[in-house]
Amino acid sequence: MGTDRHFLENLLGRMTLEEKVGQLSLYSADVKLAGAETVNPALTFKAPQSRFEDIRAGRVTGVFNGYGEDYIRALQKIAVEDSRLGIPLIFGADVIHGFRTAFPVPLAEAASFEPELAERVAETAAAEAAAEGLHWTFAPGADLCRDARWGRAVESYGEDALVASQFAAARVRGFQGNDLRDPRRLMATVKHFAAYGAAEAGLDYNTAEISRTTLADHYLPPYRAAVEAGAGAVMTAFNDVDGVPASANRELLTGLLREQWGFEGFVVSDYNSDFETIVHGLAESPRDAARLCFLAGLDMCMQSGLYADQLAGLVADGAIEEAAVDRAVLRVLAAKQALGLFENPYRGLGAAFDPGPARALAREAARRCQVLLKNRDGVLPLKAGTRAALIGPFAREHQHLNGAWAIFAANGQSVNLEQGFRAAMGDQALIVEPGCGIAEALPGGLEAAVAAAAAADVVLLALGEGQHMSGESRSRTDIGLPSAQIELARAMQRTGKPIVTLLRTGRPLAIPELAELSDALLVTWFLGSETGAAVADVVLGRAAPSGRLPMSFPRHVGQAPIYYARKATGRPAREPPGPFTARYIDAEPGPLYPFGFGLGYGQVVYGPTQVSAPDLARSGAVTVSCDLTESAGVEVEEVVQLYVHDVAASRVRPVRELKAFRKVTVAAGARLVVTFELRGEELGFADGLGGWTVEPGAFEVWIAPNAEAGVPARFVLRAEEGA
Ligand code: NOJ
Repeated sequence: MGTDRHFLENLLGRMTLEEKVGQLSLYSADVKLAGAETVNPALTFKAPQSRFEDIRAGRVTGVFNGYGEDYIRALQKIAVEDSRLGIPLIFGADVIHGFRTAFPVPLAEAASFEPELAERVAETAAAEAAAEGLHWTFAPGADLCRDARWGRAVESYGEDALVASQFAAARVRGFQGNDLRDPRRLMATVKHFAAYGAAEAGLDYNTAEISRTTLADHYLPPYRAAVEAGAGAVMTAFNDVDGVPASANRELLTGLLREQWGFEGFVVSDYNSDFETIVHGLAESPRDAARLCFLAGLDMCMQSGLYADQLAGLVADGAIEEAAVDRAVLRVLAAKQALGLFENPYRGLGAAFDPGPARALAREAARRCQVLLKNRDGVLPLKAGTRAALIGPFAREHQHLNGAWAIFAANGQSVNLEQGFRAAMGDQALIVEPGCGIAEALPGGLEAAVAAAAAADVVLLALGEGQHMSGESRSRTDIGLPSAQIELARAMQRTGKPIVTLLRTGRPLAIPELAELSDALLVTWFLGSETGAAVADVVLGRAAPSGRLPMSFPRHVGQAPIYYARKATGRPAREPPGPFTARYIDAEPGPLYPFGFGLGYGQVVYGPTQVSAPDLARSGAVTVSCDLTESAGVEVEEVVQLYVHDVAASRVRPVRELKAFRKVTVAAGARLVVTFELRGEELGFADGLGGWTVEPGAFEVWIAPNAEAGVPARFVLRAEEGA
């Protein structure tokens, strides 16, 4: 971020301590978002008039989740015209998967396995939000998630560190572009640092009970990738890591983030997480909390007012040096300068934004992240002339289209399934019946649904989670379908009609019965503004499914957390099953559908994995390749995945680790050779929280369609010359 140090230091020199602390204090807007209480608890809200006074007095650095030109212009005017130093406010917001235009939720976006798509989506979302005066987004989330019970799986990029890293970095590039001064860009925030997704038992806000090696190998890389992509801010997590709440964790915020990763932006707490160090039992008092958080490296408080209340006293007592406060303030002012706010405090406000291309991109993205898990007898795509009964609680509703974090987008303006299918098929070919509610039976619902199915050639069964069932504080112990939906699915099965299940969800679900009774199973996540149009595109074959699972789908919730990159056990499950191996006595081992799995409308056959040389040096590379052949006579977009396994190492390594992936098009009946370069340097693993070690020895390597498939080849990483 380009800064004019002289200007900033001069400004700092004119600030009182109270004004400095003001630059470290961020508050939620006093305009109420529709459904604001689903986003954050109501804490320390002030009457608008007193907030105006705070801004005038320089006690506020910025405001978040406020929107609307009039609101933003009015507040900014007070800051730049009426405050003593005229320092502009920064306006932040949770632009997580779109602003007015809702894009697929992050977990769905990850299923595209196309980081470049995520980059375009972020760029568009930034432009739309910036045109309403926003400067700063609280995204990307870079929390790895291995436990489907955690409600914020929906906001994650799933279970794999490489996928999450590539998407997090792509979104930073998309939001920020090359120059934050561009009024169509937003500054990005990497969150929630660190290990928020490792919440024990999938319970939101719970302790992250995680080994340092797992933290370093899997959970930290996505945050780091986003930092290296240039994210302007980092948000701390609610949880503790190894007994120290993230907002007061000096090892993380200073040792790792600043000293090892070289992060130069500012660190903001999550909503009240600084104050909550008292509830954790780390800090004894607000004063103690402020001291611990500040000394750990937390620059800015979100919503708590903790620094506003405590920092001046801590400086007066000598517990904190004013020079340290100055450094934090300079980081915040530098971000405002990088955004061009000193020259143009009203940047972006009122800029033209054409929603047409944004909707087109939303439809493209929504098409590209649906995952086809089953397609018995090629029931999909539907043949021309098919009459369909669209059944289920999501068939014609308008409340559950966008997903948990499109808080500025109206669900009512999104295309629902009925609208999408009617537009694509015409009214004659479609009958629509809800059959049941999300969690409750409807009087006469089953009978009406059965009658509709009887009159159709195929049942499109729209089941899954409501929007309120995933997201922050939406952990679940039961990740199956509510019983009313299961009853509906069974009733549909009894009609004998082919069943195409359209599964709306913000997390992997444990749905073995539903999978069994479905002829086709299409995971449609929460797709946003163009949901119905994009689902119809795929079901009718106007677009082929090309998504793959970014998280394993378990057979049963009792398997959670289940993920492919598990450490090798000494007694793995084997076939045929036997005792004294790592398996449950009441379930098959492994997931119902593994990470990386998904079907297209064609069929790709993988040849053997080939390695260009039997060995390589650490500084060298091998090429790994594989022949793909399309055998069904239908073009496919295939996500080709490269996995490795370190056969023997100084500590137990995962059974497989994704090292690269690429979406390629294989033409109907064609053969294609896919090649990856694998460098010796990539074969290492974390050494402590910041280091990297590469050990010589044998490795297995697969090019495969998912994390459970394929037969590995082998090669050897040579010891360095003279070592
Ligand atoms: C709490 C959430 O954890 C965080 O992701 C979000 O950015 C803030 N609230 C602000 O709304």
